[in-house]
Amino acid sequence: MNQSAERPHTCPSTPQPLVKARRITKRWPGVVALDGVDFNIYAGKVNAIVGENGAGKSTLMNIISGTYSEYEGDVLLDDVKVCFRNTSEAARCGISMIHQELNLVPHLSIAENIYLGREPVNRLGLIDYRKMHADAALILNRFKFTEDTHKLVSELRVGQQQIVEIAKALAFDIKVLIMDEPTSSLSENETQILFEQIEELTSKGVGIVYITHKMDELRRLANFVTVLRDGKFIGEYKADGVSTDEIIRLMVGRDRKDLFVKRKHPKGEKALELINFSMRDTENKNRYKVKDVNLHVAAGEVLGIYGLMGAGRSELFEAIFGVHKQLCSGQIRVSGKNITIKSPKDAIKNGIALIPEDRKNDGLVLGMDIGCNISLASIKHVLKFGFLHYPSEEAVAESFREKLSIKSHSCRQIVGNLSGGNQQKVVLSKWLLTNPKVLLLDEPTRGIDINAKNEIYKLIDELAARSLAVVVVSSELPEIMAISDRIITICNGCITGEFTSDQFTEEAILKASLPCHQS
Ligand SMILES: Nc1ncnc2c1ncn2[C@@H]1O[C@H](COP(=O)(O)OP(=O)(O)OP(=O)(O)O)[C@@H](O)[C@H]1O
Ligand SMILES: [Mg+2]
Repeated sequence: MNQSAERPHTCPSTPQPLVKARRITKRWPGVVALDGVDFNIYAGKVNAIVGENGAGKSTLMNIISGTYSEYEGDVLLDDVKVCFRNTSEAARCGISMIHQELNLVPHLSIAENIYLGREPVNRLGLIDYRKMHADAALILNRFKFTEDTHKLVSELRVGQQQIVEIAKALAFDIKVLIMDEPTSSLSENETQILFEQIEELTSKGVGIVYITHKMDELRRLANFVTVLRDGKFIGEYKADGVSTDEIIRLMVGRDRKDLFVKRKHPKGEKALELINFSMRDTENKNRYKVKDVNLHVAAGEVLGIYGLMGAGRSELFEAIFGVHKQLCSGQIRVSGKNITIKSPKDAIKNGIALIPEDRKNDGLVLGMDIGCNISLASIKHVLKFGFLHYPSEEAVAESFREKLSIKSHSCRQIVGNLSGGNQQKVVLSKWLLTNPKVLLLDEPTRGIDINAKNEIYKLIDELAARSLAVVVVSSELPEIMAISDRIITICNGCITGEFTSDQFTEEAILKASLPCHQS
C-alpha cells in the first residue's frame, strides 16, 4: 500500500453510511484527543477501530453515543445532523454503546441495571418487576449466563459484569451498537457467543463499531478497519484489502517493533511456596474456590498460571494476598520462612505485590493524579522527614511515565482522564515501586495495545533478571507461553498440570486446563 500519513485513506465504492462523523475535534486541557477525525458506520457491517493506547478511539465513540456533547465537527445520522446532549438521547435514536470501563451501578440488581432508566411499566404506570426480571433472564440466557437476575452487580466477577453490560445494549431496538473492547474479560466461550450475536445483529441491518487491540477478532469480524493515530484519522480500509502487518504499521506509523524474545536467567531460592493451600467458597463453605494447591516460584523465575475463566485463578491470587483470610487454610512461605498473611497489608510487608484484573475498582484512585497513584502503595519512597516530598514523587512518576510510555501531558494528570490502556500502565508502575520479592500479575496486558504489550513483556523479563519472582495469570495462551519459564494449569481451583518451557504446546496446556481432563 502506498500511503502517506498526511493524506487519510478512504475506501472507494463503499455503501452509504448510516452514521457519518465529520471533522471531529475534541480538546481536553493540554491534549487534543481528536483532531479533525472522519468516521463512518455502515448498516449491517462491522467497522473496527484500531489505534495505540490514547489514540482517541473511546473519545470518538463517546461523542457519537452522546457521552460527550461538546466537540467541534458534525455527526450525521441518516444524513441529518444530530447533537446528542446525553446517552439517553442517543439511545432514543437507536445508538447504544458498551463501554470499555464498565458503567454499571454496583448496588442495583442485574435486571435493574439492564433496564435502568427504561424500566417496563404495567397498566398502572408502575415498574413491572416480574416482566423486567423475566426479560433480563431471556437475554442473559443467550450467553448461557445463569445467575439470578436479582443478584447485585457488585457480587459479580468482571467477566459477568461485562455480559450484563452487553445485555443492557441488546435489550432495546438498536440501529447502531458500539463496542469498546467487549471481550477483554470474557471467556473463550462467551466470546464465541458474542460473535454469533454480532452476526445476528448485522444480518438485521444493525451497524456495529468494534474497538479492539486483538487482531484475530478484527480478522474474524470486521468488514472495514478505521485506523487512528495520536488523535488523527489515518484511514478507512476494506478489511479484506489490508494485511495485519499493514494495519499495525499504520497504527504506529513505523514498522512493527521487534517481537519479544524471552531471555534465560539464573534462578535463585524459592521466593514463594504454597503448601496444601485452600480457600473455601464465600457462599457455600463446603465448597472450595482453591483446593490443595502446592506450588512454588523461585527468585528470577516467571511462573505462568493458565486456566479458563472461573477456574479460580484470580481467587488464588486474592487468597495469597490475604483478601479472604478467614476462608483460607494451608501454609504460605516467603523465602523459606512460614508467614501468616491476615490482610493485604501483611502481604505487602512480606514483599508480595498483587496487580489485580479489575484496575478500576482495585487498582486506582481515579480522582488522583498519576504521581499520587504510583506512590500510593509505597509512600516511604517519597517521604522526606515524614512529609510527602513532591519532587521525589515526581521524579519516580516521571521515570515510570517514560519507561512504560504512559501517554499523558504530565505526571500531574488525573488518572480518570487517561485512556484505558494507560490506566493499566499506572497500576503496574504503582506496584513495581513497592519493590516486591514476589509479583502477582493478573491479566497484565488486558486492554494494552500491541506495541505496549511487548514493552510489558520486556519489563517482566527485566524484573525476573533482577531476581524478582513473578507469577502471571493470563487467558492468552501465546502470551503466557512467551513470557513464562514454567506453566501451571488450574481448573475448578485445583492444579491439573505443570509444564516446563520445553513442554509448552498450546494443545497440551489447553487440554490440561479443561474440566473433562480431570479425574
Ligand atoms: N476526561 C478526560 N480529560 C482529559 N483528557 C482525556 C479525558 N479522556 C481522555 N483523555 C485523553 O484523550 C486521549 C485519547 O483517549 P482515549 O481514551 O480516547 O484513547 P483510546 O484510543 O481509547 O485508548 P485505549 O486503547 O488505551 O483505551 C488520551 O490522551 C487521554 O489521556
Ligand atoms: Mg479506550
